[in-house]
Amino acid sequence: MNIAPSTATLGATVTDVRLNTLSDRDWQTIEDAFHQYAVLVFARANLTESEHIDFSRRFGPLERTLSQRADRQEISLLSNVAQDGKIAKPDDNLGLFLKGNRYWHTDSSFKKVGAKVSLLRAVEVPDSGGDTEWADMRAGWDALDPDTQRRLEGLVAVHSYAYSQGKVGGIALLNKREQDALPPVRQPVVRVHPATGRKNLYVGRHASHIVGMPRDEGRALLERLTQEACQAPRIFRHHWEAGDIVAWDNRCVLHRGHPWPFDQPRVMKRTTVAGDGDNPWTISEAGGQAP
Ligand code: OGA
Ligand code: MN
Repeated sequence: MNIAPSTATLGATVTDVRLNTLSDRDWQTIEDAFHQYAVLVFARANLTESEHIDFSRRFGPLERTLSQRADRQEISLLSNVAQDGKIAKPDDNLGLFLKGNRYWHTDSSFKKVGAKVSLLRAVEVPDSGGDTEWADMRAGWDALDPDTQRRLEGLVAVHSYAYSQGKVGGIALLNKREQDALPPVRQPVVRVHPATGRKNLYVGRHASHIVGMPRDEGRALLERLTQEACQAPRIFRHHWEAGDIVAWDNRCVLHRGHPWPFDQPRVMKRTTVAGDGDNPWTISEAGGQAP
Protein backbone atom coordinates (compact mmCIF):
# COMPACT_ATOMS: atom_id res chain seq x y z
CA MET A 1 0.00 0.00 0.00
CA ASN A 2 1.23 3.48 -0.82
CA ILE A 3 0.07 6.54 1.18
CA ALA A 4 1.00 9.91 -0.29
CA PRO A 5 0.23 12.90 1.98
CA SER A 6 -0.90 16.14 0.35
CA THR A 7 0.98 19.38 0.96
CA ALA A 8 -1.93 20.67 3.07
CA THR A 9 -2.51 19.95 6.77
CA LEU A 10 -4.97 17.19 5.80
CA GLY A 11 -5.50 14.69 3.01
CA ALA A 12 -3.56 11.77 1.57
CA THR A 13 -3.93 9.54 -1.48
CA VAL A 14 -3.89 5.80 -0.95
CA THR A 15 -3.02 3.47 -3.83
CA ASP A 16 -1.85 -0.11 -4.33
CA VAL A 17 -4.41 -1.63 -2.01
CA ARG A 18 -7.48 -3.73 -2.75
CA LEU A 19 -10.21 -2.50 -0.46
CA ASN A 20 -12.48 -5.45 -1.21
CA THR A 21 -10.00 -8.00 0.17
CA LEU A 22 -8.43 -5.95 2.93
CA SER A 23 -6.36 -7.73 5.58
CA ASP A 24 -6.76 -6.64 9.21
CA ARG A 25 -3.18 -5.37 9.11
CA ASP A 26 -3.86 -3.18 6.08
CA TRP A 27 -7.06 -1.95 7.72
CA GLN A 28 -5.02 -0.88 10.75
CA THR A 29 -2.65 1.05 8.47
CA ILE A 30 -5.63 2.75 6.82
CA GLU A 31 -7.26 3.62 10.14
CA ASP A 32 -4.03 5.11 11.48
CA ALA A 33 -3.60 7.17 8.30
CA PHE A 34 -7.24 8.24 8.55
CA HIS A 35 -6.69 9.60 12.04
CA GLN A 36 -3.58 11.44 10.88
CA TYR A 37 -4.78 12.87 7.55
CA ALA A 38 -8.59 12.97 8.14
CA VAL A 39 -9.28 12.64 4.39
CA LEU A 40 -8.15 9.62 2.36
CA VAL A 41 -8.54 9.44 -1.41
CA PHE A 42 -8.66 5.89 -2.73
CA ALA A 43 -7.99 6.69 -6.35
CA ARG A 44 -9.74 4.40 -8.84
CA ALA A 45 -10.71 1.94 -6.11
CA ASN A 46 -13.52 0.79 -8.41
CA LEU A 47 -15.67 -0.76 -5.71
CA THR A 48 -19.11 -2.17 -6.38
CA GLU A 49 -21.96 -0.82 -4.25
CA SER A 50 -21.81 -3.83 -1.90
CA GLU A 51 -18.02 -3.54 -1.57
CA HIS A 52 -18.42 0.16 -0.86
CA ILE A 53 -20.85 -0.67 1.97
CA ASP A 54 -18.65 -3.49 3.33
CA PHE A 55 -15.53 -1.30 3.38
CA SER A 56 -17.49 1.52 5.06
CA ARG A 57 -18.56 -0.85 7.85
CA ARG A 58 -14.88 -1.20 8.84
CA PHE A 59 -15.30 2.28 10.33
CA GLY A 60 -18.43 1.31 12.26
CA PRO A 61 -22.19 0.82 11.84
CA LEU A 62 -23.78 2.96 9.15
CA GLU A 63 -26.29 5.77 9.41
CA ARG A 64 -29.63 5.60 7.67
CA THR A 65 -29.83 8.01 4.76
CA LEU A 66 -32.19 10.94 4.74
CA SER A 67 -33.26 11.06 1.17
CA GLN A 68 -36.19 9.05 -0.05
CA ARG A 69 -34.52 8.85 -3.44
CA ALA A 70 -32.04 6.17 -2.43
CA ASP A 71 -33.10 2.60 -3.02
CA ARG A 72 -31.26 1.32 0.04
CA GLN A 73 -30.94 2.88 3.46
CA GLU A 74 -27.12 2.59 3.51
CA ILE A 75 -26.65 4.76 0.41
CA SER A 76 -27.19 8.49 -0.02
CA LEU A 77 -27.61 9.30 -3.66
CA LEU A 78 -26.05 12.63 -4.64
CA SER A 79 -27.06 12.86 -8.24
CA ASN A 80 -28.46 15.55 -10.47
CA VAL A 81 -30.20 12.91 -12.55
CA ALA A 82 -33.81 12.74 -11.37
CA GLN A 83 -35.80 9.51 -11.12
CA ASP A 84 -37.31 10.17 -14.55
CA GLY A 85 -33.80 10.37 -16.05
CA LYS A 86 -33.98 14.16 -16.55
CA ILE A 87 -31.14 16.35 -15.33
CA ALA A 88 -32.00 18.71 -12.48
CA LYS A 89 -32.31 22.41 -13.19
CA PRO A 90 -30.38 24.80 -10.94
CA ASP A 91 -33.59 26.12 -9.40
CA ASP A 92 -35.76 22.99 -9.08
CA ASN A 93 -35.97 21.13 -5.77
CA LEU A 94 -33.27 18.63 -6.67
CA GLY A 95 -30.96 21.32 -8.03
CA LEU A 96 -31.39 23.42 -4.90
CA PHE A 97 -31.00 20.41 -2.61
CA LEU A 98 -27.63 19.65 -4.24
CA LYS A 99 -26.64 23.31 -4.16
CA GLY A 100 -26.69 23.15 -0.35
CA ASN A 101 -23.56 20.98 -0.53
CA ARG A 102 -21.60 23.90 -1.99
CA TYR A 103 -21.36 25.53 1.43
CA TRP A 104 -18.85 24.33 4.02
CA HIS A 105 -20.47 21.73 6.24
CA THR A 106 -20.02 18.51 8.13
CA ASP A 107 -22.44 15.69 7.44
CA SER A 108 -25.42 15.17 9.76
CA SER A 109 -24.38 17.84 12.29
CA PHE A 110 -28.10 18.69 12.22
CA LYS A 111 -28.86 15.26 13.66
CA LYS A 112 -28.61 14.57 17.37
CA VAL A 113 -25.31 12.79 16.79
CA GLY A 114 -23.27 14.05 13.84
CA ALA A 115 -21.82 11.57 11.36
CA LYS A 116 -18.53 9.84 12.06
CA VAL A 117 -17.22 9.20 8.55
CA SER A 118 -18.53 9.73 5.03
CA LEU A 119 -17.35 7.65 2.09
CA LEU A 120 -18.21 9.18 -1.27
CA ARG A 121 -17.86 7.22 -4.51
CA ALA A 122 -17.84 8.73 -7.99
CA VAL A 123 -20.13 6.79 -10.32
CA GLU A 124 -20.43 9.29 -13.17
CA VAL A 125 -18.42 12.50 -13.38
CA PRO A 126 -18.86 15.62 -15.54
CA ASP A 127 -16.26 16.67 -18.14
CA SER A 128 -15.13 19.50 -15.89
CA GLY A 129 -15.75 20.89 -12.40
CA GLY A 130 -17.56 19.05 -9.60
CA ASP A 131 -14.48 18.89 -7.35
CA THR A 132 -14.92 18.33 -3.63
CA GLU A 133 -12.88 20.21 -1.07
CA TRP A 134 -12.17 19.58 2.61
CA ALA A 135 -10.97 21.87 5.39
CA ASP A 136 -9.03 20.86 8.50
CA MET A 137 -10.80 22.10 11.62
CA ARG A 138 -8.00 20.80 13.88
CA ALA A 139 -5.53 23.13 12.18
CA GLY A 140 -8.29 25.78 12.13
CA TRP A 141 -8.50 25.57 15.90
CA ASP A 142 -4.71 25.54 16.32
CA ALA A 143 -4.46 28.75 14.24
CA LEU A 144 -6.70 30.73 16.62
CA ASP A 145 -5.10 32.97 19.21
CA PRO A 146 -5.39 31.80 22.84
CA ASP A 147 -7.88 34.58 23.74
CA THR A 148 -10.27 33.53 21.00
CA GLN A 149 -9.82 29.88 21.93
CA ARG A 150 -10.73 30.68 25.52
CA ARG A 151 -13.79 32.63 24.40
CA LEU A 152 -15.02 29.71 22.31
CA GLU A 153 -14.56 26.93 24.85
CA GLY A 154 -17.91 25.96 26.31
CA LEU A 155 -20.01 27.67 23.61
CA VAL A 156 -22.89 25.66 22.19
CA ALA A 157 -24.30 26.14 18.69
CA VAL A 158 -27.76 25.22 17.45
CA HIS A 159 -27.56 23.21 14.23
CA SER A 160 -30.69 23.05 12.13
CA TYR A 161 -31.43 21.54 8.76
CA ALA A 162 -34.49 23.75 8.40
CA TYR A 163 -32.16 26.73 8.80
CA SER A 164 -29.35 25.63 6.49
CA GLN A 165 -31.39 24.11 3.70
CA GLY A 166 -34.11 26.72 4.17
CA LYS A 167 -31.55 29.36 3.21
CA VAL A 168 -30.76 27.57 -0.05
CA GLY A 169 -34.16 26.04 -0.90
CA GLY A 170 -35.11 22.55 -2.06
CA ILE A 171 -36.13 21.37 1.40
CA ALA A 172 -39.33 19.99 -0.14
CA LEU A 173 -37.26 17.08 -1.40
CA LEU A 174 -37.70 15.66 2.10
CA ASN A 175 -41.18 14.59 3.08
CA LYS A 176 -42.84 16.01 6.18
CA ARG A 177 -42.03 12.97 8.29
CA GLU A 178 -38.32 13.38 7.52
CA GLN A 179 -38.42 17.11 8.20
CA ASP A 180 -40.23 16.51 11.50
CA ALA A 181 -37.56 13.98 12.50
CA LEU A 182 -34.95 16.76 12.30
CA PRO A 183 -35.61 19.28 15.08
CA PRO A 184 -32.79 21.75 15.86
CA VAL A 185 -29.99 20.19 17.94
CA ARG A 186 -27.19 21.53 20.11
CA GLN A 187 -23.54 20.86 19.35
CA PRO A 188 -20.41 22.19 21.06
CA VAL A 189 -18.42 24.80 19.09
CA VAL A 190 -15.18 23.18 20.21
CA ARG A 191 -14.90 19.41 20.25
CA VAL A 192 -12.26 16.83 21.00
CA HIS A 193 -11.56 14.08 18.52
CA PRO A 194 -12.10 10.79 20.36
CA ALA A 195 -9.21 8.94 18.68
CA THR A 196 -6.53 11.63 18.59
CA GLY A 197 -7.54 13.87 21.49
CA ARG A 198 -7.04 16.92 19.25
CA LYS A 199 -9.44 19.82 19.64
CA ASN A 200 -11.23 21.18 16.61
CA LEU A 201 -13.84 23.70 15.57
CA TYR A 202 -17.35 22.36 15.05
CA VAL A 203 -18.94 24.86 12.67
CA GLY A 204 -20.30 24.88 9.09
CA ARG A 205 -23.53 25.74 7.33
CA HIS A 206 -25.91 23.79 9.56
CA ALA A 207 -24.84 25.87 12.59
CA SER A 208 -27.53 28.51 12.93
CA HIS A 209 -26.66 30.48 16.04
CA ILE A 210 -25.07 30.28 19.46
CA VAL A 211 -27.01 29.56 22.63
CA GLY A 212 -27.16 32.62 24.90
CA MET A 213 -25.87 35.06 22.28
CA PRO A 214 -27.97 37.41 20.13
CA ARG A 215 -28.80 35.51 16.95
CA ASP A 216 -27.04 37.89 14.55
CA GLU A 217 -23.94 38.06 16.68
CA GLY A 218 -23.66 34.28 17.04
CA ARG A 219 -24.33 33.77 13.37
CA ALA A 220 -21.68 36.29 12.37
CA LEU A 221 -19.16 34.65 14.70
CA LEU A 222 -19.88 31.18 13.27
CA GLU A 223 -19.54 32.46 9.73
CA ARG A 224 -16.29 34.25 10.49
CA LEU A 225 -14.80 31.18 12.16
CA THR A 226 -15.74 29.04 9.17
CA GLN A 227 -14.33 31.47 6.61
CA GLU A 228 -11.06 31.97 8.48
CA ALA A 229 -10.51 28.28 9.14
CA CYS A 230 -11.18 27.24 5.54
CA GLN A 231 -8.04 28.77 4.06
CA ALA A 232 -4.73 27.36 2.80
CA PRO A 233 -2.82 25.40 4.05
CA ARG A 234 -5.88 23.87 5.72
CA ILE A 235 -7.77 22.98 2.55
CA PHE A 236 -7.47 19.97 0.29
CA ARG A 237 -9.30 19.58 -3.02
CA HIS A 238 -9.97 16.52 -5.16
CA HIS A 239 -10.85 16.31 -8.83
CA TRP A 240 -12.91 13.16 -9.28
CA GLU A 241 -12.46 10.31 -11.70
CA ALA A 242 -15.13 7.64 -11.92
CA GLY A 243 -14.29 4.83 -9.48
CA ASP A 244 -12.60 7.07 -6.90
CA ILE A 245 -13.76 6.79 -3.34
CA VAL A 246 -12.91 9.32 -0.65
CA ALA A 247 -13.32 8.80 3.09
CA TRP A 248 -13.40 11.83 5.38
CA ASP A 249 -13.66 12.30 9.09
CA ASN A 250 -16.75 14.38 9.90
CA ARG A 251 -15.50 14.65 13.47
CA CYS A 252 -12.78 17.12 12.41
CA VAL A 253 -13.19 18.32 8.82
CA LEU A 254 -15.64 20.42 6.85
CA HIS A 255 -16.27 19.84 3.16
CA ARG A 256 -18.02 21.42 0.22
CA GLY A 257 -18.72 20.58 -3.41
CA HIS A 258 -17.85 22.78 -6.36
CA PRO A 259 -20.23 23.46 -9.26
CA TRP A 260 -20.06 21.79 -12.66
CA PRO A 261 -21.85 22.46 -15.99
CA PHE A 262 -25.44 21.95 -14.87
CA ASP A 263 -26.50 20.14 -18.02
CA GLN A 264 -24.04 17.30 -17.39
CA PRO A 265 -24.80 14.30 -15.18
CA ARG A 266 -22.85 13.87 -11.97
CA VAL A 267 -23.73 10.76 -9.97
CA MET A 268 -22.11 10.17 -6.58
CA LYS A 269 -23.06 7.63 -3.93
CA ARG A 270 -22.24 8.02 -0.27
CA THR A 271 -22.25 5.83 2.77
CA THR A 272 -22.28 7.52 6.16
CA VAL A 273 -20.79 5.90 9.23
CA ALA A 274 -22.97 6.70 12.24
CA GLY A 275 -21.59 8.84 15.05
CA ASP A 276 -20.93 6.95 18.29
CA GLY A 277 -23.28 7.11 21.24
CA ASP A 278 -27.05 7.04 21.55
CA ASN A 279 -27.75 7.62 17.87
CA PRO A 280 -31.29 7.04 16.63
CA TRP A 281 -30.08 7.04 13.00
CA THR A 282 -27.74 4.08 13.35
CA ILE A 283 -28.78 1.10 11.24
CA SER A 284 -28.78 -1.70 13.78
CA GLU A 285 -27.63 -5.15 12.77
CA ALA A 286 -31.13 -6.34 13.50
CA GLY A 287 -32.31 -3.95 10.81
CA GLY A 288 -34.49 -1.77 13.07
CA GLN A 289 -36.08 1.38 11.73
CA ALA A 290 -34.45 4.73 12.42
CA PRO A 291 -36.68 7.86 12.60
C1 OGA B 1 -21.44 14.89 0.52
C2 OGA B 1 -21.15 16.20 -0.09
C3 OGA B 1 -20.15 17.25 -2.01
C4 OGA B 1 -19.93 16.86 -3.42
O1 OGA B 1 -21.35 13.89 -0.19
O2 OGA B 1 -21.75 14.83 1.71
O3 OGA B 1 -21.32 17.20 0.55
O4 OGA B 1 -18.95 17.36 -4.01
N1 OGA B 1 -20.69 16.15 -1.33
O5 OGA B 1 -20.72 16.07 -3.95
MN1 MN C 1 -21.81 16.62 2.71
